Amino acid sequence: MNKQKITIEKITSLCKRRGFVFPSSEIYGGFAAVYDYGPYGIELKNNLAREWWKHMVQMRADVVGLDSGIFMHPTTWKASGHVDGFDDPQIDCKDCKTRMRADHMLEVFGIDADKMSANEINAEIEKLKEKGKKLKCATCGKTNLTPAKNFSLMVKSNLGSPTDELSEENVVYLRPETCGGIYLNYKNILDSTRVKLPFGIAQTGKAFRNEIVARQFIFRTREFEQMEMQYFLRKSEMQEKYEEWKEARWNWYLEYGIKKENIKWYKHIKLAHYAAEAYDIEYNFEALGGFKEMEGIHQRGDWDLSQHQKFSGVKLEYLDQKTGEKFIPHIMETSVGLNRMFFAFLHEAYTEEEVDGATRVVLKFDRRLAPIKIAVFPLLKNKPELVKKAKEVFTDFSKKYMCEFDDNGNIGKRYRRQDEIGTPYCVTVDFDTIEKDNSVTVRDRDTMEQERVKIEELDDYFLEKFKI
Ligand code: GAP
Repeated sequence: MNKQKITIEKITSLCKRRGFVFPSSEIYGGFAAVYDYGPYGIELKNNLAREWWKHMVQMRADVVGLDSGIFMHPTTWKASGHVDGFDDPQIDCKDCKTRMRADHMLEVFGIDADKMSANEINAEIEKLKEKGKKLKCATCGKTNLTPAKNFSLMVKSNLGSPTDELSEENVVYLRPETCGGIYLNYKNILDSTRVKLPFGIAQTGKAFRNEIVARQFIFRTREFEQMEMQYFLRKSEMQEKYEEWKEARWNWYLEYGIKKENIKWYKHIKLAHYAAEAYDIEYNFEALGGFKEMEGIHQRGDWDLSQHQKFSGVKLEYLDQKTGEKFIPHIMETSVGLNRMFFAFLHEAYTEEEVDGATRVVLKFDRRLAPIKIAVFPLLKNKPELVKKAKEVFTDFSKKYMCEFDDNGNIGKRYRRQDEIGTPYCVTVDFDTIEKDNSVTVRDRDTMEQERVKIEELDDYFLEKFKI
């Protein structure tokens, strides 16, 4: 029972075939770097977001939730530095017109250009030339390339302006990260709830970035969802709380089935000027060639609130009731892309097994994450009494669990389909159910073992199975 090599083709094909993820606007020839989530994809995404929320908000006395707008006052993004500095320098191929991220091209020569400006990158390219080395186009291999130019990742809109022409005065931005809304509501939350430092504000929602390279399926897209938590604290509390949150986020992945050997810490060497420490949790995205960033856990100092105080003119200080001291809280954040996390959990669950000389593809999701918890079948489609009973079981259990009724094809095919979408249990109503003992067959996704369970005992049976 070997786990086979996971390729991007296997994952994308399964996602399309089984209704997890579809490329956007396919009937119009597609729309790059945007993906749509099908019936099982939306269930998995919702389950991941719910389990994240449960641990980040519900189970924490010190974290509250928020849902702020995607559009915000444009000055927000001037204050945060995004308007002037949220760039990925790009290089274009003059022959085949491929657009590439300049830092990715320098990576080939062992140069870390992640935080370099276009000018710094061009200086590096000159140094390479002096050593007789040249950059090549990733598509056609030719060396006829433009210099590195800045490419803003901000997505603009004309929302609310009378014309669809964008000018400096009427431009608004689609948020490039969800945390902006948290900083702008920090004071509202302070004034309307009983939170006291240290406390966190969490939110999930869409974010938009005009990514240059977006060819890695749902790993890097132009529209995506973030799940972020900003934790406000005193500077003196930072290191202790930072270590606690790092541990909490690491353990969250283990709890939901990510294997220890598939995640690792990456410590940022180059930091934003305001940051004291930043780590990422990297996941082993085998289909993309190895470990890549999944979640960031960053210390942000008092930069964000100081900037918004400066640009808005509104005091964002915290008053310590005990000491009378007023100060701008420091912030640490946990930030993860829901779609990227989805990709990681698909990877982790994807399993190929040899069963009776054939390959069985099964998504071994943790039960809490599985899109469908229980599938209910009548043994035969053309036996009304079996169909009726199976529908009764479906109606009953779908009040408590996400269930699916299936009477297509034979039982073998139905099992294969449910394995491929990761359904932990399949319940079959057969002739014995009706004629003998009111029991059904319950088949386990992972062991493929089957057992008979009386319908009146099914409730307790599943309560036990889905117990946390
Ligand atoms: N507020 C901090 C922040 O946004 P980031 O490292 O730019 O930090 C955080 O993004 C997380 O958001 C990343 O670790 C990744 O999971 C996700 N993310 C960022 N850009 C993304 C994209 N274009 N597509 C999908 N997920 C993305």
